[in-house]
Amino acid sequence: MNKMIQIKDFKNFEEKTIKTQGWVTNKRSGKGLEFIILRDGSGYAQCIVNKDDVSGDVFEIAKRLSQETSIKIEGKIVKDEKQLGGYELQISNLKVIGDSDNYPITNKEHGIEFLMDKRHLWLRSKRQWAILKVRNRIIFAINNFFQTEGFVQTDSPIFTGNAAEGSTTLFSSKFYEQDAYLAQTGQLYGEAMAMAMGKIYTFGPTFRAEKSKTRRHLSEFWMIEPEMAFHDNDMNMDLIEKFLRYIVADILENCKEELLVLDRDTTAFKTLIQKDFPRLTYDEAVEIIKGIKTINGKTSIELLEEDLKNIKAKISENRTGIEDREKEIAGGVKKGKRNFLQNKIDQLKNEISTLEQKEKNIPQWLNSAKNFKYGEDFGGSDETVITRMFDVPVMVYNWPHEIKAFYMKRDKESPELAKGVDVLAPEGYGEIVGGGERETDLNLLIEKIEEHKLPMSAFEWYLDLRKYGSVPHAGFGLGLERTVAWICGTQHIRETIPFPRYYGRLHP
Ligand code: 4AD
Ligand code: MG
Repeated sequence: MNKMIQIKDFKNFEEKTIKTQGWVTNKRSGKGLEFIILRDGSGYAQCIVNKDDVSGDVFEIAKRLSQETSIKIEGKIVKDEKQLGGYELQISNLKVIGDSDNYPITNKEHGIEFLMDKRHLWLRSKRQWAILKVRNRIIFAINNFFQTEGFVQTDSPIFTGNAAEGSTTLFSSKFYEQDAYLAQTGQLYGEAMAMAMGKIYTFGPTFRAEKSKTRRHLSEFWMIEPEMAFHDNDMNMDLIEKFLRYIVADILENCKEELLVLDRDTTAFKTLIQKDFPRLTYDEAVEIIKGIKTINGKTSIELLEEDLKNIKAKISENRTGIEDREKEIAGGVKKGKRNFLQNKIDQLKNEISTLEQKEKNIPQWLNSAKNFKYGEDFGGSDETVITRMFDVPVMVYNWPHEIKAFYMKRDKESPELAKGVDVLAPEGYGEIVGGGERETDLNLLIEKIEEHKLPMSAFEWYLDLRKYGSVPHAGFGLGLERTVAWICGTQHIRETIPFPRYYGRLHP
């Protein structure tokens, strides 16, 4: 048998001798034994070289294998429930494909800038592997969802002649002799395509010059933008809710191993699948921020103050835990026990630093919430305060029209409001969806284009959509990377795309 078997398929070859290939991600030695952790992109498996089972040459090669050497091996697959993946390979033969000397990313801690410089190699680490696998599955689920719902996937141009989401974040470019910009959104084109196809979605890269390094902003990111003819904003919100629930259920079902690697607590996801998402008007959301409106009997201020008290208590509990263990070590213990205690101490210290960050943040959130002025857009901390009140995503709709894009539909009854919706993810992940119903009144639209100082000539084609068989329509944009960050529980958005582009980062 010459076929190479992938690690993910080991389960089909129990007690069989097979050939496989991959990279050495980790290795340790025992008495007459070498333990190799092999990775091949499809999974991870422990492979054992026993001195008694292989030739002297092979054992020598195994002893000297360094991190990220690529190898070809032959061996027997045996079940071992203790291993990630559930199987282990007993090696009978081994060959090196490509050497790897002094691989720069080791198992010790590295700084984030170093890892970002080495992104082309960092992608091989287990955590990064798991994140990219989840990203892949989310993309698959998104396409599945829209295709099953009868949407047509269409593409919008990347070179554009005008702004659509405000001119401050445009990346300028050249299109032959003309000035051009990289697309901030595909929406306006999506509207044209919805009038041709009924229900469409675009899935493409978008570009925004965000001159700040936040954990939520990239300069180049991927957006999914459905657009539906004959839809109002209520129907839009129903669709968003169904869509997000579908993605989360799919990931829970199909990325179990990855979520385990990421150590992601999935309790809230299980609630999300069953529970309705709260829908708040902008006005209600402001009342939550300002601590006026109660949810489950508490205001945001009361809840955050309670959080702060619990955090302080937990920090002091951890400190005592560290002291106790340090005393035990100082008293003299065996090596195994000392390692065990030291590990626990390191873990408690890590927890303390996360808790201290929160301890610092909460008073700032409370302060900025107190100073929030009606009519402003929500900042990151405002979003965190709102979402702290719920364990599922929150939809905020009916926004002051001044802070929304020019194309947003004005409410006939309350003309100061626009029929937009933002979806805020829980646990501080913030806005993952922005969308709404589109303005169909030609005169209001022209007024808005002027108000936003956009060049009318660039929008003639867009206005045509309102002149020839205009219908109510709505849509939204989901940020792929923010969704991946939320589902994977990553601290920062830069880990959710293979080669991130953000302010100050163009390489590798
Ligand atoms: O809210 P936004 O700006 O909405 C639009 O662009 C609409 N045209 C969408 C539509 O209705 N068709 O962006 C949509 C989403 C945000 O909610 C966020 O998830 C993501 O795109 N996003 C970003 N993600 C990463 N980095 C950035 N700089 C982002 N800006 C927006
Ligand atoms: Mg938005």
